[in-house]
Amino acid sequence: MVRKLLFPSQFYWGTATASYQIEGGWNEDGKGASIWDTFSHTQGKIEDGSTGDVACDHYHRWREDVALMKEIGCNAYRFSISWPRVIPLGKGRINPAGLDFYDRLVDALLEAKITPFITLYHWDLPQALQDEGGWANRDTAYYFADYASVVAHKLGDRVKHWITHNEPWVVAWIGYGWGVHAPGLKNEKIALQVAHHLLLSHGVAVRVLRDACSGGEIGITLNLSPVHPASEREEDKLAARRYDGFLNRWFLDPIFYGHYPPDVLELYIQYAPRIDPGDMATISYKVDFLGVNYYSRSVMKFNPAAGPLQAEGVAPEGAEFTEMGWEIYPPGLYEILMRVGRDYQPEKLYITENGAAFADEIAPDGGVHDLKRISYLREHFAQAQKAIQDGAKLAGYFIWSLMDNFEWAHGFTKRFGIIYTDYQTQKRIMKDSALWYKKVIENNAVEIED
Ligand code: FCB
Repeated sequence: MVRKLLFPSQFYWGTATASYQIEGGWNEDGKGASIWDTFSHTQGKIEDGSTGDVACDHYHRWREDVALMKEIGCNAYRFSISWPRVIPLGKGRINPAGLDFYDRLVDALLEAKITPFITLYHWDLPQALQDEGGWANRDTAYYFADYASVVAHKLGDRVKHWITHNEPWVVAWIGYGWGVHAPGLKNEKIALQVAHHLLLSHGVAVRVLRDACSGGEIGITLNLSPVHPASEREEDKLAARRYDGFLNRWFLDPIFYGHYPPDVLELYIQYAPRIDPGDMATISYKVDFLGVNYYSRSVMKFNPAAGPLQAEGVAPEGAEFTEMGWEIYPPGLYEILMRVGRDYQPEKLYITENGAAFADEIAPDGGVHDLKRISYLREHFAQAQKAIQDGAKLAGYFIWSLMDNFEWAHGFTKRFGIIYTDYQTQKRIMKDSALWYKKVIENNAVEIED
């Protein structure tokens, strides 16, 4: 039997991208260098030796990309602004040509009846600020607020949905703690200080955006996963609880309650961040929504040798995985949406990213038949709809990603798009998942067979 799972009217159906992953134009029209320019130009950092110098050439092809979104029927689009395109050195002089690029993009989106959701920071910090310590330097939080103000004054008359940060956990740990992302630092001691400055910058930017953009909705996007114990053993449960604190509560608690989770703080007491008076109040300024990026769950087992948390991730047996090696686990989306609703009561939720990388190929008939992605999305949509039925205040869903793009340290080896990017010719090909998504949007419903 085929069941039609309906979504609320006015639901936002979109796709998401990030500036460094799609734009290219890395040194055009006065743009300054970002830490990702530096990092990708450093030998050995990117799996296939590629860079984002050209990426999807969206900087020149944005009209075509907006037209594709319109064709799919999307009514929303989440994209990020490149800070060094707007303020080349991160502070001080503004680059009008950079701002104009986003100004034109916003107008084109509105013309196509696509609501823009802007992420202010999706990881491309101006290199000049990194030279002064980057996010380890408290001043960066205030430069971020100045940058937010510049962008909001230019676009805030038309843009009503603002995301301060994308996944601060990834920035702090993968970028500064483990060195896999830019700026490539391997210094666990500063990761929590970096996280604190990111959260602080979020808070000050919320205030700035509130003043600059009347009627705007302001939020932050976190990478969240339910964390399950590898077994019913008490020590595995402890490991799961600790990892949940490290990954989820470390960010949710300060934003919604103004404090760090005491259990994790105790474990990381040596690396505890310096917190100035007033910081926690700033971090917990009210947000209008929480953006959830969901890809998979985490499964943890106790391992006394595995760092302060004594927790080690395991791959569940018999599970299916995407090309990223991430377990396909749709019920985790329902679980995380319900959990944040219950524990933190955000006014609204958006799924700001969900999607999957598979080894897509162009078929002899010229199409890209990405059936695994359709099935991944269908099952996650069904879980989201179930959460809405059960009271989750979910108002929109953004597929990662609009098109295949530069997947950070993986370069171009992972394809997440619902549109195929041929990097040789920059030709875009709608995958079957894009055509399928078009139907979902038309019906405002997902069909499942059971
Ligand atoms: C998220 C990032 C996004 C993309 C997806 C696959 O962590 O926010 O830019 O890389 O993962």
